[in-house]
Amino acid sequence: MSSDKYYKMPYVDFISLLRETNRCPGGKDTINWILQNSFANQNSRVLEIGSNTGFSSLEVARLIRANVLGIDVSEAAVSVANQELLRDTPQIQQLVKFVVASAYDIPCADQSIDLIISGGATSFMDDKSRAVSEMHRVLSNWGFCSVCNLFYHSRPPRQLLDKVSEIIGVKINYMTADDWMQIYTNNKVFEVYKLETVPLASQSDERLAEYVDYFMSKPHIKSLPLEDLVAIRQRWMEILQIFNENHKYLSFIRCLLRKRPIEEEPELFTIKQR
Ligand SMILES: C[S@@+](CC[C@H](N)C(=O)[O-])C[C@H]1O[C@@H](n2cnc3c(N)ncnc32)[C@H](O)[C@@H]1O
Repeated sequence: MSSDKYYKMPYVDFISLLRETNRCPGGKDTINWILQNSFANQNSRVLEIGSNTGFSSLEVARLIRANVLGIDVSEAAVSVANQELLRDTPQIQQLVKFVVASAYDIPCADQSIDLIISGGATSFMDDKSRAVSEMHRVLSNWGFCSVCNLFYHSRPPRQLLDKVSEIIGVKINYMTADDWMQIYTNNKVFEVYKLETVPLASQSDERLAEYVDYFMSKPHIKSLPLEDLVAIRQRWMEILQIFNENHKYLSFIRCLLRKRPIEEEPELFTIKQR
């Protein structure tokens, strides 16, 4: 019965239970890339969409000391993000706020945000174009919107896509970098200011086992009954093995879009994108 509970738990709630520091693709390096390239500063009003357990919002505040609002549809994730916030310094606590809200209906006024960051969250959304128009609505003119998404550099077996979809509770399709860029640039209201593709690597079985052990040794997990520990370990290992297999086919895009309020002349001889 107890093991059933962990298998039925939605993926986002399960990783919130583990208190896994969910990161955007590329982690700190990506946050650094976004902040350096978007000219963000202490006065920037920053919004993170799909803030999960708070990693990116906190990292932005720590680096540039700007106000950051993180929104996520998962109550469990927002609750963990708020616990993480409480562990941080008083200065960071004053700058960052996490609330339960959806990308489909962002709780911000029109043009009130200078930088939007969204790492991986769009993959979880069924109505991606609604999220993109909401991003456009809240962004200030010439403001930046950074999007990072995993994409397939080669076609994975259908079965693997089905397994990943089952885990995260959202249907994952075979998406290339071009497919993602289509979604973001379809309405032609964003300029693609910067774009790069970044390779990813899968890990050894030993590394996966070490990673699982790390979570099993966390005090709030370790103190659970043995039956729960067995179930949690088993589900976590199964999830990571499937994700690891998936990583053999994955890279990610790092992209900065800019809200362009006026039409500009096209540029012909641009630098070749990586
Ligand atoms: C891969 S995680 C994002 C990780 C995050 N970038 C970080 O650095 O920690 C994706 C998140 O998107 C959230 N999400 C899914 N649909 C959403 C929506 N419509 N609006 C806001 N957040 C959403 C999920 O609940 C999940 O927490």
